[in-house]
Amino acid sequence: MIRIAALAAMTLFATSALADGDAAKGEGTFAKRCKTCHSIYNGDNDIVKGGKIGPNLFGVIGRSAASTDFKYGDSAKAAGEKGLVWDQAQIITYLEDPKAFLVEYLGDSKARSKMAFKLRDEGDRADIAAYLATFSGTN
Ligand code: HEC
Repeated sequence: MIRIAALAAMTLFATSALADGDAAKGEGTFAKRCKTCHSIYNGDNDIVKGGKIGPNLFGVIGRSAASTDFKYGDSAKAAGEKGLVWDQAQIITYLEDPKAFLVEYLGDSKARSKMAFKLRDEGDRADIAAYLATFSGTN
C-alpha cells in the first residue's frame, strides 16, 4: 500500500514538473532570454516587439514545427515534415538543447539547428512553455 502511494506521488510530481510552468514568470524570462531573437505578433498586433532573428512565436504551441514564413534550417523543416507539432513538453525539451532535440527527433546525428541558444534551467523552460501556451488555442 505504502509503495503504491509513493509511486502515485512520484507520477504526480513528474507530470506537474513538466506542464506546470508559471506563465507570469515565463513572461519575464522570455523578455530577458528570447526577445533579442523572437517577436510575438498576431497579424498586425504586436504582443512582444523583439528581434527577427528567429520566427514569430505567436501560436507556436499547437503549430507544426517550421511552419511560418521564416527561413528555417533544413533540420527544422525536416522535423515539421516528419509531423512535429509543438506542445509544452516538446518546447521544454527543445529549449534545453535545440540541436540535440533535432538529432533525437530525426534520428540523424548530422541534424543542425539555426537556434544558437540553450536554456539550462528546467523551471525557466516550463515557465516559458506555459507563457507561450497563453498565445495558443491549445496548451
Ligand atoms: C540567438 C537567437 C535566438 C534566441 C536567443 C532564441 N531563439 Fe528560438 N529560434 C531562433 C532561430 C534562428 C530559430 C529557427 C531554428 C531553425 O530553423 O533551426 C528558432 C526557433 C525556435 C522555435 C521553433 C519555432 C517554429 O516555428 O518551429 C521555438 C519554439 C523557439 N525558437 C523558442 C525560443 C525561446 C522560448 C527562446 C528563449 C528561451 C528562444 N527561442 C531563444 C533563434 C533564437
